[in-house]
Amino acid sequence: MKFDFLSSTFVRFGSGVLETTGQEACEIGRNALLVTGRSSAKKSGSLKKVEELLKRENLEIVLFDQVEQNPSVETVEAGAGVAREAGCDLVVALGGGSPLDAAKGIAVLAAQGGSLEDYIGVDKVEQALPLVAIPTTAGTGSEVTKYAIITDWKTKQKRTVASPLLCPRTAIVDPLLTVTMPKQITANTGMDALSHAIEGYLSLKSQPITDLLAIESIWTVAKYLPRAVGQPEDLEARERVMYASLLAGLVINQTRTGMIHGLGYELTLNYQVPHGLANTLLMPQVMEFNRISCPEKTIQIARALGENVESLSTREAGRRAAFAVRELAVDLGMPENAAKVGLKLEDIKGIAQSFIQTKRSFGVTPRYPDINEVETIYLKSFRGEI
Ligand SMILES: [Fe+2]
Repeated sequence: MKFDFLSSTFVRFGSGVLETTGQEACEIGRNALLVTGRSSAKKSGSLKKVEELLKRENLEIVLFDQVEQNPSVETVEAGAGVAREAGCDLVVALGGGSPLDAAKGIAVLAAQGGSLEDYIGVDKVEQALPLVAIPTTAGTGSEVTKYAIITDWKTKQKRTVASPLLCPRTAIVDPLLTVTMPKQITANTGMDALSHAIEGYLSLKSQPITDLLAIESIWTVAKYLPRAVGQPEDLEARERVMYASLLAGLVINQTRTGMIHGLGYELTLNYQVPHGLANTLLMPQVMEFNRISCPEKTIQIARALGENVESLSTREAGRRAAFAVRELAVDLGMPENAAKVGLKLEDIKGIAQSFIQTKRSFGVTPRYPDINEVETIYLKSFRGEI
């Protein structure tokens, strides 16, 4: 047995831990750039709360609240400009995956200068401001990962900066922050966590520790996400889903994400489909495609999703995994095919080609697809077939 396991983030988890934000931040820096999105942290009151907590410890705060969904290169560069001008020595990120990822890009550019393009790829970062990450959704796992996913709208591409220096110094993971999340966002982000756990479990870079974390994450999402969607104030369900999301983040930090993400990005870039929903619409089809390369693990996923597979053939037991994911999504009220989110039959050839050109996930996906197989996966997703 041989593996690497990197986790350099101090995680503080639990309902109410937000209260410690000021103490945690002031151990790291004195002058914080507070990065958040344009509205939800304001509406929920969490932004005001975090500002108060930081001020209580006498931190200087400069607010950058311009992060949009699928944050752009331009936004990251603008945020870095603000941080440099104010002489910030710390970045505090509050929000969903978009503000957290943007904050990571900002932390790099603020410390090193240059343009984001200089750091696209793996291990090109030499310096970054320390980051305190406070997620307000339960799904991205960005609070413990070394990735920043930034969108280049000029070339219609998702660009990734990957470096251990991007791992937040501290993650304040407080499930109380997720109670105000609308139903749809709860479902989309929770299914994103499930896609991380499943892709990580099937990744060629999976290893014993990530396998344990992934299976724990999969069954936890399957059990508690319907409760969190059905009853927003069910705090036990909120805690469990956030825990599952955290675990899945630790998984992909080692294993990377796979073809579900690679194919899903094309739906997001072309039809503005929210990330978690895009993944959900491709997850059953990609799992079924991968099944022949990892039949035993696919059966374990079916079991973790609550399927009784004991009397079934290997093939049938494996197939249950993909169907269980579909049934979970339908239970959560999500659309059952990609046509409903804007995918057009005549676009499939083009987006399949675009995915193949990115070569995204090719180092980790258990089964390599050719262009025809990618088109078939999109077509099945379009029709709602598995
Ligand atoms: Fe994701």
